[in-house]
Amino acid sequence: MKCVDDFRLRFGKREVVPIIIGGMGVDISSRELAWEAARLGGIGHISDAMLPTVTDRLDKTKFVSHKQKQYKLNIEKTDKSIVQFDLAQVAESTRLHVSKTMEAKRGDGMIFVNCMEKLTMNNPRETLKVRLASSLDAGIDGITLSAGLHFGSFGLMEDHPRFRDAKLGIIVSSVRALQIFLRKNAKLNRLPDYIIIEGPLAGGHLGFGLDWAKYDLQTIVNEIAAYLAGENLSIPLVAAGGIFTGSDAVSFLEHGASAVQVATRFTITNECGLPTDVKQEYFKANESEIEVNTTSPTGYPMRMLSNTPAIGSGIRPGCESYGYLLDGNGGCAYINSYNREVEAHPNDKNVVVMDKTCLCTHMRNFNCWTCGHYTYRLKDTTRQNPDGSYQLLTAEHVFRDYQFSVNNQIALPE
Ligand SMILES: Cc1cc2nc3c(=O)[nH]c(=O)nc-3n(C[C@H](O)[C@H](O)[C@H](O)COP(=O)(O)O)c2cc1C
Repeated sequence: MKCVDDFRLRFGKREVVPIIIGGMGVDISSRELAWEAARLGGIGHISDAMLPTVTDRLDKTKFVSHKQKQYKLNIEKTDKSIVQFDLAQVAESTRLHVSKTMEAKRGDGMIFVNCMEKLTMNNPRETLKVRLASSLDAGIDGITLSAGLHFGSFGLMEDHPRFRDAKLGIIVSSVRALQIFLRKNAKLNRLPDYIIIEGPLAGGHLGFGLDWAKYDLQTIVNEIAAYLAGENLSIPLVAAGGIFTGSDAVSFLEHGASAVQVATRFTITNECGLPTDVKQEYFKANESEIEVNTTSPTGYPMRMLSNTPAIGSGIRPGCESYGYLLDGNGGCAYINSYNREVEAHPNDKNVVVMDKTCLCTHMRNFNCWTCGHYTYRLKDTTRQNPDGSYQLLTAEHVFRDYQFSVNNQIALPE
């Protein structure tokens, strides 16, 4: 019987354990988690989402208060279009986070950064260009392009000296998205080094509609493998979404995937960036408490725990501090929903906003509990403490369990 350790993901001559811990913003896939994945010979991700606020917290920078001061007179206004990011500060925070991560990396594995296109930051093209370039400048091993179609992202990196040596990958959820990406980038003569195929059971934003349950990850992997074979292209495929045991992973490795990307099982590890009490919420969740909804202003459905504090919260949009989802015209679907509710209830001190959520503020404060479909199985991966709480695991324990387990077994902690 095979285990994941019988396989390797190959980039040319370089080989790694075919386990990738997926990017989880905002700083849920922490430096510590990425370090463990690399130390154990796999691939870890940090996320480049909202890095000015992340480095404020981790490295005592002052980017958010600086921005808030600059736009303080706008806080009461409904129009957020003047709120811009200082590109030099975006570059500085990205370089800081990536370089601190890379300097302390140990082991034979790699660390990639997850870069979401939907973080449009009121200037989609220029802010994305700066984020990509700064990660490459700071020595990241690779960049995973996510949450968006990224048709122009390779072009934004084309002139960077590391464009051909860093590993560049793309997340897709359909063969069609991949076909268009490859067609739009054909003239650059630079293929992705890996393709992550994210199925409908993943955490975070989904590349499917509310009919996600109709889709099946292995079927999409098969379609993409067949398409690439027909085009004579050999690009490693990485299956992601709902891979809960080593045996689940082996099944994908035996049927077209060169690696798996996993995340949910690491949300309850010591190294994961979520606060301890939120990790307990993930453990406690039952199947009926995991929902896919349309509250994200990005327009993509998102999976989360139904008791997530972000749902219904009518906080004032925090764009003067954050503003990561402002489109190129300073708009955001949450601002519209918030303004509508304030107008409808002029005498209320607090409003309830059900249809959208202020994702920047709530992700920053760990109040949007996004999670994978199988979160309700996390309680079966550990032991309960005498007080009823669940024992957190180490990332090493979970990684090794994926790497060596057979027969759908899950190793409990000592
Ligand atoms: C808490 C959480 C946050 C996530 N955030 C992101 C993100 O910021 N960007 C992204 O591309 N994927 C995100 N994902 C998706 C993961 O990177 C990964 O592809 C997916 O969840 C794998 O499926 P699994 O969780 O069932 O193992 C997130 C997943 C979780 C559980």
